[in-house]
Amino acid sequence: MSSLMRNIFFFVLLTYSSVSITQGYCVTRTWQIYVINVIPEDIVVHIKSRDDDLGNHTISSKGNYNWSFCEDVFGRTRFYGNFWWGSDFQNLALFDNEVRGVCAPSKQDYNYCYWSVSPNGFWVSAHQDGGWVLKKTWK
Ligand SMILES: *[C@@H]1O[C@H](CO)[C@@H](O)[C@H](O)[C@H]1NC(C)=O
Ligand SMILES: *[C@@H]1O[C@H](CO)[C@@H](O)[C@H](O)[C@H]1NC(C)=O
Repeated sequence: MSSLMRNIFFFVLLTYSSVSITQGYCVTRTWQIYVINVIPEDIVVHIKSRDDDLGNHTISSKGNYNWSFCEDVFGRTRFYGNFWWGSDFQNLALFDNEVRGVCAPSKQDYNYCYWSVSPNGFWVSAHQDGGWVLKKTWK
């Protein structure tokens, strides 16, 4: 690579790495996260990362909230969620290195992570139909 090409390459890399919510294309790996409410009542979730505040969302029973983002080139991407269910509250990391390990990134560019929010706690899996790992219970 010529030094001009190399500079352009790194410029593009750094530009994209600071934009974590996808605009349809990632230089790095893309993650899509689903938060599925299996509680027979509405819950409210507030999700944010260092760069993005996804705001408050009400998820109805059996409904989901999902979003996708480009993984940071340095693997530092973290998303946190604050959850309210009636008078119950909990906060936890919805995406960090540990969750990333559970969701086992594939060789593909596109990866999925599913959260199941139930009365007995917060479960995560790489698949929608099993392999759930309990991460936290309600307070
Ligand atoms: C988000 O929802 C919770 C629970 O209903 C509420 O306490 C909080 O004030 C809301 N935050 C914003 C920014 O609307
Ligand atoms: C993902 O969320 C969008 C709204 O942001 C919704 O329209 C869509 O149905 C959800 N995807 C699935 C598979 O439920």
